[in-house]
Amino acid sequence: MKQGGAEKGKRILEIAVPRVEASQSVREAEAEEVQEVSPPVEAVVAPRVEIHSTVQFDLKAADYRVKHVLDPITLVGEQFRRLRAILSLMQKQRGIKALLVTSACPGEGKTFAACSLAGVLAQEPGRRVLLVDADLRKPRAEKQVGMKADAGTVTGLSEVLRGEIDIMDSIAGSLGGDLFLLPAGKIPANPSELLSSPILEKSLKMASSAFDWVVIDSPPVLALSDASVMAPVVDAILLVVQAAVTPSKLVKEATSRLGPQKICGVVMNRVKYLRASHYYYHYYHDKERG
Ligand SMILES: Nc1ncnc2c1ncn2[C@@H]1O[C@H](COP(=O)(O)OP(=O)(O)O)[C@@H](O)[C@H]1O
Ligand SMILES: [Mg+2]
Repeated sequence: MKQGGAEKGKRILEIAVPRVEASQSVREAEAEEVQEVSPPVEAVVAPRVEIHSTVQFDLKAADYRVKHVLDPITLVGEQFRRLRAILSLMQKQRGIKALLVTSACPGEGKTFAACSLAGVLAQEPGRRVLLVDADLRKPRAEKQVGMKADAGTVTGLSEVLRGEIDIMDSIAGSLGGDLFLLPAGKIPANPSELLSSPILEKSLKMASSAFDWVVIDSPPVLALSDASVMAPVVDAILLVVQAAVTPSKLVKEATSRLGPQKICGVVMNRVKYLRASHYYYHYYHDKERG
C-alpha cells in the first residue's frame, strides 16, 4: 500500500451523481442506444482470492439505487464509470488501492457511493473488489449490496479488529461476481478504539495484496472520530458531498480533519441537473439517433 496516494497540488477529481428516482425507466429507455465507452484496461494478474466464509450475497437483491448504478445504460451509472476510469488511472500512476469513502455529515450518500463504486469497479473484467463496512455503528452496506443476513449477525470487521477471526475468514462473496464484502460484524461498544488498532493497517495491507481495490464505507467525519482514525492507513479518500445541502464550511472542516493531501476526489451527490456531462449525454444520444 502506498502512503499519500493523493498528493498535494494535484487537481482533485469531482463527479456529479444525480438523484436516483424510483422510476427512471424513461431515461433508461432513452439511453438504450448509448454505448459505454470503456477506458482501455490493461491485463492484470491478481492473486486468486481464497475466501473461507460461506456467507454470500446476491446483487440482484441489492438496493434499487445501487442496482441502478450497476445497470450499464443509466446516466448515474455513467458517472460512476467515469469515476472508475479516473481512479484506474490514479491506480496506475500512484498505486492507490485502499479508498476510504466518507463525508462531513450523516445521510450524504457514503454507503450508496461506496457500494455503487465497489460494484462498478468489480464490473471491470478480472478485477476483484473488496467492500469493507467500517461503519461499525450503523452498518448499512450489507443490505445495500443484497446480503440477506442482518448486519451484526455475521462476523466481520469488529471481530477481525479484536483479533478473533482472520480477515479472509469473514469475507463474503457475491454470487457469480467479483465483488466481495467484509461486513461490519457485531456492533462494538468502542468503535473508535477498535479502529485505532494496528490490526486495521495490517488487514488493509493484506486485503490490498489480495484484491484489486478495497473500498471502505465509514461514518461521517464531523460527528465521530472513526473516519479520521482510518485516514492515515488508507491510500486515498473520496469525499461525498450532498449537493446544495452540505454547507461549504462543513466540507472544509471535514477536509482539514481528514488531511487534504489524502483526498483524491469529491462525489457531488444527488445533484439535480448535470451540466456538462448531461449535455454531452444527450448530444451523444441525439447524434446516435441521427
Ligand atoms: N444519488 C442518490 N439518489 C437517491 N437516493 C440516494 C442517493 N444517494 C443516497 N441516497 C439515499 O439516501 C439515503 C442516505 O444515503 P446513505 O448512503 O445511507 O448515506 P450515509 O451513508 O452518508 O449516511 C439512503 O436511503 C440512500 O439510498
Ligand atoms: Mg452509511
